[in-house]
Amino acid sequence: TGVKQIVQVCNQGERVLVGSAMHTVAVMESNNVTQGYSIVIDHEGNIAGIDTDENIRSKFSETKFSEVLDATGCSVIPGLVDAHTHPVWTGDRVHEFAMKLAGSSYMDVHKAGGGIHYTVEHTRAASENQLYQLFKNRLISMIKSGTTLVECKSGYGLDTDSELKMLHVIDQARHDTSVQIDVSSTYCGAHAVPKGSTSEEAVNDVVMNQLPAIKREIDTGKLAVENIDVFCEKGVFDVHQTRKILEEGKKIGLLVNFHGDELTDTGSGELGAELNAHAISHLEEISDVGIKAMSKSQTVAVILPTTAYILRLKSPPVRKMIEFGVPVALGSDFNPNAYCLSMPLIMHLACVNFHMTMPEALSASTINAAAALGMSGTHGSLEIGKRGNLVIINAPRWEHLVYQLGCHSDVIKAVINGGDKA
Ligand code: NIG
Ligand code: FE
Repeated sequence: TGVKQIVQVCNQGERVLVGSAMHTVAVMESNNVTQGYSIVIDHEGNIAGIDTDENIRSKFSETKFSEVLDATGCSVIPGLVDAHTHPVWTGDRVHEFAMKLAGSSYMDVHKAGGGIHYTVEHTRAASENQLYQLFKNRLISMIKSGTTLVECKSGYGLDTDSELKMLHVIDQARHDTSVQIDVSSTYCGAHAVPKGSTSEEAVNDVVMNQLPAIKREIDTGKLAVENIDVFCEKGVFDVHQTRKILEEGKKIGLLVNFHGDELTDTGSGELGAELNAHAISHLEEISDVGIKAMSKSQTVAVILPTTAYILRLKSPPVRKMIEFGVPVALGSDFNPNAYCLSMPLIMHLACVNFHMTMPEALSASTINAAAALGMSGTHGSLEIGKRGNLVIINAPRWEHLVYQLGCHSDVIKAVINGGDKA
């Protein structure tokens, strides 16, 4: 299938992208390829036209474009969406990587006071400014790899002040015009039981202190937060505690989006379906009952290929989920345990290790990932009225993005966020 060559479609108007476009329709898990298309993005940063070059040329013949981008011979996909990251922290854990390579498990390290506890210690001690600089550099790497919308979690504070500090760091990126990426913010104060507390005390602190403080800041317009997360796991927070926290979060308008069934089957799939969660992440250990429960809800399964890869865990049952009609999304899970900022690498791992097809991996990294954040109405596909977020790939077949392992700088010609080159 050759690509129709286009010299130029519009020489006037607002912003236009010319070339062959891959149009992912807004239906979960389905996408189709169209060629010889042009895309017009308006000054608000939304898609104003997506059609054949000919139709665009006649429809926008009167328009003055401020920029024209020639994508002849390239392919265009929706901007990638990373559905799960922990990007605000200081103090790397490269020493723990060595321990894990030598055979320690994730929970061995965590229980010995390392893991999340190590990161909490360093993140609590860091200033908001220090954390923002680190966060911003990570966002820039993500953008270079094609990410245009990213979910960002707090969770290395575990007390009111430090969690608020992290959420403010995340919020800052929305107002920084030097970093072009859309952000969905997640409060994850129940990411671990803080050292010196019991899990009951931690739940109490989240419900009685942290959540009310966050609500106050949201109500007074000082902060925006969209989702609530809990690490539901044996030895961390059990299903009852998880339910309690998520229900409290729901009451203040947060979307339920939590870690579950990662190292043990805790019944997280069932709990998420019952709570109408937008998303449950990990699910390496989800049972068939959990999958069936999820298939009856709208809950998206957020699959994180770096976890099983780095920790040498069993793979999540992705094929079974797809077979049962559970919408599957992908996330990098960027965190000090899994230092990966690249969605194309995640897509590659999902295809090779979890037997996803490349079109499935694309839907999982665009429209389904947007749905996991309750943002599929504005993000995740190329459609009129949606955000002008796109990745232009330097190849006539978009699959080069997945196939060319770790070569994003060669494969990605441009990343567009809200019509601007990111
Ligand atoms: O998704 N499982 C819990 N949270 C992260 C790991 C965070 C950390 O180890 O710092 C995850 O893998
Ligand atoms: Fe995580």
